[in-house]
Amino acid sequence: MTSLLTEIDHIAIAVNDIDAAIKWYEDVLGAVVVHREDVASDGVDEALIKVADSYIQLLTPTRDDSPVAKYLAKNGEGLHHVAYRVDDCAVALEAVKASGARVIDEVPRLGSRGTIVAFVHPQTSFGTLIELVQEGG
Ligand code: CO
Repeated sequence: MTSLLTEIDHIAIAVNDIDAAIKWYEDVLGAVVVHREDVASDGVDEALIKVADSYIQLLTPTRDDSPVAKYLAKNGEGLHHVAYRVDDCAVALEAVKASGARVIDEVPRLGSRGTIVAFVHPQTSFGTLIELVQEGG
């Protein structure tokens, strides 16, 4: 079959102190933050660092009931999810669901930067939380 995945959109890393993490990426790796957004729906503050056509997404929770807060409490800092760019999030999500995989979002929803996203549960994707990202218009 033709791949539904067109690019790595971002690799997300959960951190406790996003300002300290940004400073580390800037000072040590010369990284450049190109986007900052408080994503209220997910309870996270994100910073996007551009790497070629992809991003590193630093994430920190903005409230205690944020999924990222729960993740940090359970696992500590580190890799949180891998986001793949797709042409059509709804089509990709339907293909994932049709395969019997467990999803977190039953229908696509709005992500940061005006993207359309859906998350696939790590339980049926070999331990990795996967995000499908369709770029906005
Ligand atoms: Co993401």
